[in-house]
Formats: sequence, C-alpha cells, structure tokens
Amino acid sequence: MSATPAPRTGLPEAASLQPMQDADLEEVARIEARNYEFPWTRGNFADSLAAGHSAWVLRNRGGMLGYAVLMRVLDEAHLLNITIDVEWRGAGRGRQLLVDLCEMSRQAGARQFFLEVRPSNTAALALYESAGFVRVGTRRGYYPARDGREDAIVMVKPL
Ligand SMILES: CC(C)(COP(=O)(O)OP(=O)(O)OC[C@H]1O[C@@H](n2cnc3c(N)ncnc32)[C@H](O)[C@@H]1OP(=O)(O)O)[C@@H](O)C(=O)NCCC(=O)NCCS
Repeated sequence: MSATPAPRTGLPEAASLQPMQDADLEEVARIEARNYEFPWTRGNFADSLAAGHSAWVLRNRGGMLGYAVLMRVLDEAHLLNITIDVEWRGAGRGRQLLVDLCEMSRQAGARQFFLEVRPSNTAALALYESAGFVRVGTRRGYYPARDGREDAIVMVKPL
C-alpha cells in the first residue's frame, strides 16, 4: 500500500454491492494499480471470475469505490482481495464491505472466514482485529516486497 488516504469530506453516499462482471475488469485493474505497490493484474481478476470466485464491486453515483474477491472452500470463505480506492477511504466503507462479505458468506454456509495480511499493512490489520479476526498463523515470504519477500499474517473469524 503506497498511497495516502484523502481526508474525510462528509457523510458517505449510499453505495451498493454488485457482482463483478467482465465489463468491470478494466476499471478494477486501474483502481488496483493505484492502490497497491504489487497489484493484481487484470488477468488475475479475470481468472478469479473464470474460477467462479465470489467477486463484488462497490459503487455509488460517483463510480466504483472498491471491490472484493472471495474463494469458497467447503465451509470456509477465503478473502483474496479487498480494496477501497484511496480517495474513498477512511469513511467506514472498508468495514461495511467486510461485514457484508462475512454475512453473505455465512448465509451461503461458510463457518469460518480466513484472510491474509501484510504485517506492514497497519490500516488493514487494525480493521481486521477490530472486526473480530484473530491471528492463527504466518505464511513465510508470502508476499513480494521491495527488499525481497514479506510474511503474511493469517487471520480467521468464526461466522
Ligand atoms: C484496508 C482498507 C480496505 C480499509 O478501508 P477503509 O474504507 O479506509 O476503512 P474504514 O474507514 O472502514 O476503517 C475501518 C477501520 O480500519 C482501520 N483503519 C482505516 N484506515 C486506517 C489508517 N489510515 N490507519 C490505521 N487504521 C486505519 C481502523 O481500525 C478503522 O476503524 P475506525 O474508523 O473505527 O478507527 C483500505 O485501507 C484499503 O483498501 N487499503 C488498500 C488495499 C489493502 O491494503 N487491502 C487489504 C489487503 S489485506
């Protein structure tokens, strides 16, 4: 994560969560590229759709605010990507998106919700810990990093 959140500018506009479609991929990839130092490619998102993963975009009248990709494995949900575009951060949208994903997964039969996060991603870590996720392990050298690789903290929340 390299960009700095913009200041809050007022109450969040109503936003809706919609299934990600092929037509969204250009915009998703553009947002991804400006929000991560090591972004997924358009092809990574296309592969996720082709694999049947659960993928969502968050929109309001101003356009796409963010998106998320989830994989279901038996009674587990695995969060593969959650992003709020930098200009829309800091207004509760990431927390609401995570709550919605957990609830949708629970309704679809998942019992546990897993995710990975970089130890250096303090904003995401704070969100996950305050949302009831607990650390259950570490994947060594999971992520690319400027000076080699960075571990992933594995977290889980019972649904
Ligand atoms: C992580 C992310 C999704 C949070 O989205 P957001 O809309 O900004 O988050 P919210 O406004 O809902 O804030 C939720 C909580 O996150 C934490 N948080 C958010 N921004 C933070 C910051 N700059 N510093 C520290 N904690 C922060 C806080 O705990 C916050 O709760 P609070 O408002 O009650 O204090 C967003 O920062 C993002 O998309 N980052 C880039 C992509 C990324 O890193 N994704 C996660 C990969 S594991």
